[in-house]
Amino acid sequence: MHSSKLIWLVYFIFVYITACRGNFVKPKPAANVNEPQQIHIGFGQRLTDIIILWSTKNNDSSVAEYYTGNTNSKAIKGETIHFEGNPLGCQYLHRVYISNLTPGKKYFYKVFGQDSDSTSSQYSFTIPDVTKPLTYMIYGDLGLLSANLQFLKHEVILDPQKYSAIFHIGDIAYDLGSDGGRRGDKFLNAIQPMAAHVPYMTIPGDHELFPGSKDHYRFRFSTPNAGWPMPMYQLWYSLDAGLIHFVCISTEVFFLDKDNIDRQMKWLEEDLEAVNEDRSKHPWIIVLGHRPMYCSVNDDSEDCRKTDSVVRTRLEDIFHKYGVDLFISGHQHLYERTYPVYKNKVLAFSNRNPRATIHFIVGSLGNQYLTEFSSKPGGPWSANVVSAMEMEIYGKVKAFNDTHLFWTANKAMDNGVVDKAWIIQNQHGPFDQVVISDPLGAAGKQWRKHNQEDDNTFINLNFFYVDKDDYNTRVTVLMFTFIFLIFGICFRKKILNSFRYCCINHDKCKNGQLIPM
Ligand SMILES: *[C@@H]1O[C@H](CO)[C@@H](O)[C@H](O)[C@H]1NC(C)=O
Ligand SMILES: *[C@@H]1O[C@H](CO)[C@@H](O)[C@H](O)[C@H]1NC(C)=O
Repeated sequence: MHSSKLIWLVYFIFVYITACRGNFVKPKPAANVNEPQQIHIGFGQRLTDIIILWSTKNNDSSVAEYYTGNTNSKAIKGETIHFEGNPLGCQYLHRVYISNLTPGKKYFYKVFGQDSDSTSSQYSFTIPDVTKPLTYMIYGDLGLLSANLQFLKHEVILDPQKYSAIFHIGDIAYDLGSDGGRRGDKFLNAIQPMAAHVPYMTIPGDHELFPGSKDHYRFRFSTPNAGWPMPMYQLWYSLDAGLIHFVCISTEVFFLDKDNIDRQMKWLEEDLEAVNEDRSKHPWIIVLGHRPMYCSVNDDSEDCRKTDSVVRTRLEDIFHKYGVDLFISGHQHLYERTYPVYKNKVLAFSNRNPRATIHFIVGSLGNQYLTEFSSKPGGPWSANVVSAMEMEIYGKVKAFNDTHLFWTANKAMDNGVVDKAWIIQNQHGPFDQVVISDPLGAAGKQWRKHNQEDDNTFINLNFFYVDKDDYNTRVTVLMFTFIFLIFGICFRKKILNSFRYCCINHDKCKNGQLIPM
């Protein structure tokens, strides 16, 4: 055969095989058309209550079957809602509430509908044992475009017991309601591998309050204290987690949901007052809200850049009054940690017995959406800033006991620690009441030890704050230096004369080398 004909023959065979490839593949068994998807769990009113949510394409009932390694399974029936706000996505949403589970125990579960015989795979969760130090993962602004979503999932799935919960603090899917609801479906399917195993706690950000996504947030998630779908006037909740009392608020009441300002403010005050009645039960108060009140971004139109920041004006005094230890937010696509700061003033350049709230922003996972450069420092209160341009970061908080809480910011790509801080508080409670006056006591020494051993927290110190020690010490040293200087100037002749005297009488000065006057 002529070689050019051979080439043509090979070419046609190739085209034929490529075009008909589908016909050579063995047909797959018919897909389980109504298979539960978008499975995610969260805490109910208590850490021993678990809410399971999922979606299906067709109408079906909602049942969850759960079991431990050595007990019989229990089946619990829940509710199904037909969600029409999701024209192109899965419209049947399911929710089951399981209560009174046992702390420290691992449960396996499956979800299904009785009407269509479609059952999910098996998943598991572990009820936190609050008598042990627990770790929580915290981030905002994730969405589907994060370059590191796979790494993040991997970190959680590798050891689902490592994190007692994940807090996604607003700006969830950009947006849950986009693309006829398919964006929300996609996002929830993407996070299912972690969110079906570890309670995925949420608060609304601005993207959950846009008209097209509001209902998606209320229907697709279910948080403690609220019914389901969550009513607009209850998009906030608190959660007792042993040493930590988490307060999850909607900062959108100050922006896109102003009808609910008073309602949330009243609830917030009551909640914080109640925890303060006995702080020994839940010494650490951590507030999670989408929008920050201090930030180092170069866009002066952002609320957190303004001197009359709405979030700050509304919340800072309450946080101070009730001794909120940490305020963690997102919204700005960067990572930032502050020193204890109140009314724009740094109260101390250390985290030992802070007398004001310490602020964190963990909004850099969604860097694909809009990246803020942190080129404009926010002020002396900024302890560390990392732009999302550099890396995507998630936060981790772990309370060891009532005096020691450890914070780290980790690079999503390889979990490398980017920033860390021990927060040591010996006197929890309202900040305006008690002032600790024993900086070198046991706690101080402990702090110093941590600081030298593994606390590399003060990375971004500027010229004035090179000393890791606390602010008061530096002021004292400066004051004494000043006094000595004045003393020296006033009595310079006397001092120099006494030097001259010494010199004359000194062996080495016998040849009369005097200090010139
Ligand atoms: C779904 O099925 C239930 C039980 O069969 C029925 O009561 C309900 O009306 C159905 N919902 C829709 C939207 O068809
Ligand atoms: C609290 O935890 C820290 C860190 O593990 C430890 O150094 C400290 O001794 C603990 N304090 C008490 C009172 O157990």
